[in-house]
Amino acid sequence: MESALTARDRVGVQDFVLLENFTSEAAFIENLRRRFRENLIYTYIGPVLVSVNPYRDLQIYSRQHMERYRGVSFYEVPPHLFAVADTVYRALRTERRDQAVMISGESGAGKTEATKRLLQFYAETCPAPERGGAVRDRLLQSNPVLEAFGNAKTLRNDNSSRFGKYMDVQFDFKGAPVGGHILSYLLEKSRVVHQNHGERNFHIFYQLLEGGEEEMLRRLGLERNPQSYLYLVKGQCAKVSSINDKNDWKVVRKALTVIDFTEDEVEDLLSIVASVLHLGNIHFAADEESNAQVTTENQLKYLTRLLGVEGSTLREALTHRKIIAKGEELLSPLNLEQAAYARDALAKAVYSRTFTWLVEKINRSLASKDADSPSWRSTTVLGLLDIYGFEVFQHNSFEQFCINYCNEKLQQLFIELTLKSEQEEYEAEGIAWEPVQYFNNKIICDLVEEKFKGIISILDEECLRPGEATDLTFLEKLEDTIKHHPHLLTHKLADQRTRKSLGRGEFRLLHYAGEVTYSVTGFLDKNNDLLFRNLKETMCSSENPIMSQCFDRSELSDKKRPETVATQFKMSLLQLVEILKSKEPAYVRCIKPNDAKQPGRFDEVLIRHQVKYLGLMENLRVRRAGFAYRRKYEVFLQRYKSLCPETWPSWAGRPQDGVAVLVRHLGYKPEEYKMGRTKIFIRFPKTLFATEDALEVRRQSLATKIQAAWRGYHWRQKFLRVKQSAICIQSWWRGTLGRRKAAKRKWAAQTIRRFIRGFILRHAPRCPENAFFLDHVRTSFLLNLRRQLPRNVLDTSWPTPPPALREASELLRELCMKNMVWKYCRGISPEWKQQLQQKAVASEIFKGKKDNYPQSVPRLFISTRLGTDEISPKVLQALGSEPIQYAVPVVKYDRKGYKPRSRQLLLTPNAVVIVEDAKVKQRIDYANLTGISVSSLSDSLFVLHVQREDNKQKGDVVLQSDHVIETLTKVALSADRVNNININQGSITFAGGPGRDGTIDFTPGSELLITKAKNGHLAVVAPRLNSR
Ligand SMILES: Nc1ncnc2c1ncn2[C@@H]1O[C@H](COP(=O)(O)OP(=O)(O)OP(=O)(O)O)[C@@H](O)[C@H]1O
Ligand SMILES: [Mg+2]
Repeated sequence: MESALTARDRVGVQDFVLLENFTSEAAFIENLRRRFRENLIYTYIGPVLVSVNPYRDLQIYSRQHMERYRGVSFYEVPPHLFAVADTVYRALRTERRDQAVMISGESGAGKTEATKRLLQFYAETCPAPERGGAVRDRLLQSNPVLEAFGNAKTLRNDNSSRFGKYMDVQFDFKGAPVGGHILSYLLEKSRVVHQNHGERNFHIFYQLLEGGEEEMLRRLGLERNPQSYLYLVKGQCAKVSSINDKNDWKVVRKALTVIDFTEDEVEDLLSIVASVLHLGNIHFAADEESNAQVTTENQLKYLTRLLGVEGSTLREALTHRKIIAKGEELLSPLNLEQAAYARDALAKAVYSRTFTWLVEKINRSLASKDADSPSWRSTTVLGLLDIYGFEVFQHNSFEQFCINYCNEKLQQLFIELTLKSEQEEYEAEGIAWEPVQYFNNKIICDLVEEKFKGIISILDEECLRPGEATDLTFLEKLEDTIKHHPHLLTHKLADQRTRKSLGRGEFRLLHYAGEVTYSVTGFLDKNNDLLFRNLKETMCSSENPIMSQCFDRSELSDKKRPETVATQFKMSLLQLVEILKSKEPAYVRCIKPNDAKQPGRFDEVLIRHQVKYLGLMENLRVRRAGFAYRRKYEVFLQRYKSLCPETWPSWAGRPQDGVAVLVRHLGYKPEEYKMGRTKIFIRFPKTLFATEDALEVRRQSLATKIQAAWRGYHWRQKFLRVKQSAICIQSWWRGTLGRRKAAKRKWAAQTIRRFIRGFILRHAPRCPENAFFLDHVRTSFLLNLRRQLPRNVLDTSWPTPPPALREASELLRELCMKNMVWKYCRGISPEWKQQLQQKAVASEIFKGKKDNYPQSVPRLFISTRLGTDEISPKVLQALGSEPIQYAVPVVKYDRKGYKPRSRQLLLTPNAVVIVEDAKVKQRIDYANLTGISVSSLSDSLFVLHVQREDNKQKGDVVLQSDHVIETLTKVALSADRVNNININQGSITFAGGPGRDGTIDFTPGSELLITKAKNGHLAVVAPRLNSR
């Protein structure tokens, strides 16, 4: 209802108790109309659900809808059948009390539909039982089977239930459906043999003919055409567009399997259905004595087979009546009319008993297989009552009488229970009960069912009394016995004006829901419901297993008259009322919006009529008698606490005190409300609406505040989270850094310690303790060495190796040197090579032997000291083709006077040539050059010794060159006289000409002086250079 409060302006009120003008039927209907227009078919009257048939699929029974209504407060969500379903289920589970949902309304109002939806809700939302989960399917699948056999198209409803149904669903202590049981009430069996225009027989006949396989129809002797069967053509509408018999047949066939029918049982059941059709086609003809004779042999043949009875017995039973007179059995032939009556009676009996059998069979299938288990004892039961609604036709007969009586009983129960519960609530809450004005229909119930004086008693009496009792005698008896009852009228009892509207064979009951005129025709017959004895006997001998269960032989021997139909019905109703009373009731009141079965049409007259006879205004009055609204203190406070500063945002004390403070703050006047023990009762809707409006305004401002607070909170939380994360990351990172540093320090300390230890033990043999140090020293030596390698061959520096690497160091040094040399050698030019070779030869000859050698080392040897232009062409000519390898200016000392003379010394490949200007003065072939002498001092004199025997030669040659080392090296090399150079100390003797030798004396002195000594020797004083 709380949600209804919010939506009230748009679509009326969702709970009629909130109607300001609650006594106005017009206001009531207007509210229904407004909601119906918006496809809101459900409205509450307190806990009672009023439902208007929409005649269209509103898509409001989906799984999502079920979920939406599960476990929520009844009043928090818009009215819905599922809200009732869920409330009932929760009460069943939490209070462990049996519940009953009573669904009422007139034909076509949607009772059966509602029952199915409820079952579907339970099947889909309840937990599955631990064992026997199939019970849910069976509960659901029992419906199509029962509907096929018990429903039919009528003028009011294309799927009208022609029997009353009360179904129990049993739940175990966990709330899982574990079993079920069905009670059926008064099947309208007259429909089997007769239908009004525009109506049909029970669905199963058409379904079988439309959907049954060829082979099956052949076995059953049926044609696929309803027109061929007299029992199906009376209403002249075998085909209806809204019904798909073929599909329905498939559904039924499947359902039969689910509810444990074996193939044989199905065959037996369908044989009976077929036999009813064949019975309808049995014709009689009168013989000469006007006795009826069966003319349709074929039908009889099929019947014999399908029912498993003797052909002749059946034939006799259909045309004769067995009378027992004075203990003797007599067969009296029937006339045409009687035979037809007997045939129809048999058809009705066969069908209705089969229906009863079917219900029992379904019950066996639904019965919990676990009935002996301990959990079974703690089951709770939820009853669903889908019973025919109040019926008023043009022509009302015995059936309508029973149906309307049933509705009277249920209405009485309804009033009793609602008033009772209302009263109990007031008492429980300690609020004074204010009497409610309502019509109590007990007087009508009594009129029908009272012993001796009630209509049923009088009818039974007429049926049982000997003599000629007829429907009219029954009417007379009625008039005699109940003369002045305010709710009964007959032609005789009525006043002048009313009498016109009543036939002589009719009586009128002023039901709580309106007046209904019943025709007494057929009352006795239908109440007696007699089947001729021989027909019964025949059926008792049936070999069809279902038939043999339906017709029990004990029936034949039972002398006691069976109870009349009305009494049986009365008894079953009393039993039903007891069942319902023992349970917590919930109500669904169904309303049919129009007679045309059309969506969107709201027929006000029709609806007003239903509102009246469903007693909805009465119901509302009772509910509103005292207070329009009541709610538990907790709920009320929770909803409205924001309207009072003292109760907002929370109330610490008892909810009741909070509500008291709240209503005082809201300014409720004392007459507007009452405080019960657990609930507040508000008398007028307008008080509640004013509170609701205030709440709406308050909500706006609260919403803004809440939003702001929430945003603040949200962002602060976010900030705190970020801060927390930052701190966390920081501490982690710091930790990581710290740990790394510590690890590094530790490592460093260990390394240093190892190092020191190694250092201490560095001279010890290699062991684990000094291994690191030694390796380190080695490594650092090698690394150091890499940086300090000698740059060239002359660089002799080399780092000092550690003792362990001495050998390696030497090897490396050698390698390095070799490498440098190798590199150097690869890098030098041929000229330089020659230079070096000559230098090497010079070194070989002079090193350590001649004083001025060291000075010559850094001076490069030059290929020649005289260019060809400095040599006389004549000399060149004289040499001819001989090339000059080397030329140098020299001083020649005469052999005799030792006069110095300037000369040129040329080296050719073959000889040393001494040239004076343009003249070759002397040519010494290398072959004749026997040696070369030179002093060890720093002078630059040298003597070329020649072969003495060579006459051409004038003797040895004393020469002086400024480049003595170079010149001598070149001469020695050219003449291959490297080993023939003599370095003399003191003096050199040379051949001064034929038979004459000269001597040169060398003495060290302060400066170079070359003179002819007195002894005839050449005296050379050479400065001391201290180079050696
Ligand atoms: N809630 C609903 N939504 C849609 N259609 C509905 C609803 N209730 C009923 N109907 C339609 O109305 C038809 C008649 O409903 P239903 O058979 O339940 O009536 P009933 O009250 O059981 O009538 P009867 O007393 O004749 O058995 C349904 O076949 C269906 O087409
Ligand atoms: Mg129905």
